[in-house]
Amino acid sequence: MSVISSKDVNEIIRKTLGIINSKIMNHGEITGYILYKMMEYENTYTEQHYTEQELVDYTMLGILHDIGLYKEDNVKNVSDFETKNLWPHSIYGFLFLKYLSPVGDRAEVVLYHHLDYNRQNLIQSRYLHIIELLSLADKMDTFLHLKDERLEPEYFAKYRDIKFSGAALDLFHKAEERYGITENLVNGKYREELDVLLAKRAFSEQYKRGFLEMLVYTIDFRSEHTVIHTLATVHFAEQLGRLARLSGKDLRDLHYGALLHDLGKIAIPLNILESTGRLNDDEMKIMKAHVRITEMILEGVVDDAVLQIAVRHHEKLDGTGYHKGLKAEDLTLAQQIIAVADILSALHGKRSYKDAFSKEKILEIMNGDADRGKINRNVVTSLERNYDKIIEEFEKEKESTIGLYLKIKEQYAVISERFKMFD
Ligand SMILES: [Fe+2]
Ligand SMILES: [Fe+2]
Ligand SMILES: [Fe+2]
Repeated sequence: MSVISSKDVNEIIRKTLGIINSKIMNHGEITGYILYKMMEYENTYTEQHYTEQELVDYTMLGILHDIGLYKEDNVKNVSDFETKNLWPHSIYGFLFLKYLSPVGDRAEVVLYHHLDYNRQNLIQSRYLHIIELLSLADKMDTFLHLKDERLEPEYFAKYRDIKFSGAALDLFHKAEERYGITENLVNGKYREELDVLLAKRAFSEQYKRGFLEMLVYTIDFRSEHTVIHTLATVHFAEQLGRLARLSGKDLRDLHYGALLHDLGKIAIPLNILESTGRLNDDEMKIMKAHVRITEMILEGVVDDAVLQIAVRHHEKLDGTGYHKGLKAEDLTLAQQIIAVADILSALHGKRSYKDAFSKEKILEIMNGDADRGKINRNVVTSLERNYDKIIEEFEKEKESTIGLYLKIKEQYAVISERFKMFD
């Protein structure tokens, strides 16, 4: 049995990104749907053939094509980003998808989604055809929102084979006639169709996990500490879970719960996340809200066991934690483990307001917490016994993640430079 169904992966992506900006999320889904219907038409009525995996991959790329916009802290005005400065989000989106998602080899499709059709001769790509379709689907959604004055009514007549591919537009019209795309968009039927597509076998367990990881790390990318914190919590929770001999099912739940536990931080402003001083009461209240936001996103979407692990990571055994103030008897071992992992990760990590603590200091604090009945004594004892090994393995993993982040930043600069020729 799987922890999470594929349509729910899409639902988590939708809810999470929707919290930051619902306009971009809807735009992504609609673009993905239009692209999908165009490919379906080609598959049925033309020589072009896509495998099931290709259909799913390209549709996901369509849904996520503007994911690079989430790099900006304030994505208030989508149209500004989408019309004035097109390259930053194209490049970040491409890099996130390339390095963090399971559709990495096809991510180039996103890199060029704003490139004018008559400039395609300037680039080399195996995916020119899909780029044409995605670019058209993207513009079509913008056009369908007629209230949006960015596209003039005669846009499609005026810029044929200049800004977009005429052949792609013809294909859209045929697909529209055959499937009633715009009608499905209006009555909401497109979501069911997307759900059916995404429930296909092509959406394997590993693939789903890959997209969730991509989502979490893309969101976390706004703050390096947050990325490392999530990574560390997952890692420590798994190690401690194994030492406590949790079952395979519990370990898997713990993995997902840890991965998703701070997802709600997307709604917390950066100045609080990255604060260099102690948070005042009001700021603390806002910070604590991340647990409820995580709950809002995951509720009814993930397995209840995963949800409860994720939202109980700040509970203490004596009832002094948040947000429910539960006690030891209400908390499962996995839920008690994630609380320990979260603290360990916070103490071990370097934060804007503190340096990393030494091993002695960390164990002193954690033993103190265990003695005062706040966190699980056995888990802390097994941490103490295996401390060096746990940290050493994590440090290795951390290096490769940090390397990846540096690589993304570096490549961003390189590609931006190259893209100057398109301005
Ligand atoms: Fe875009
Ligand atoms: Fe777009
Ligand atoms: Fe947290």
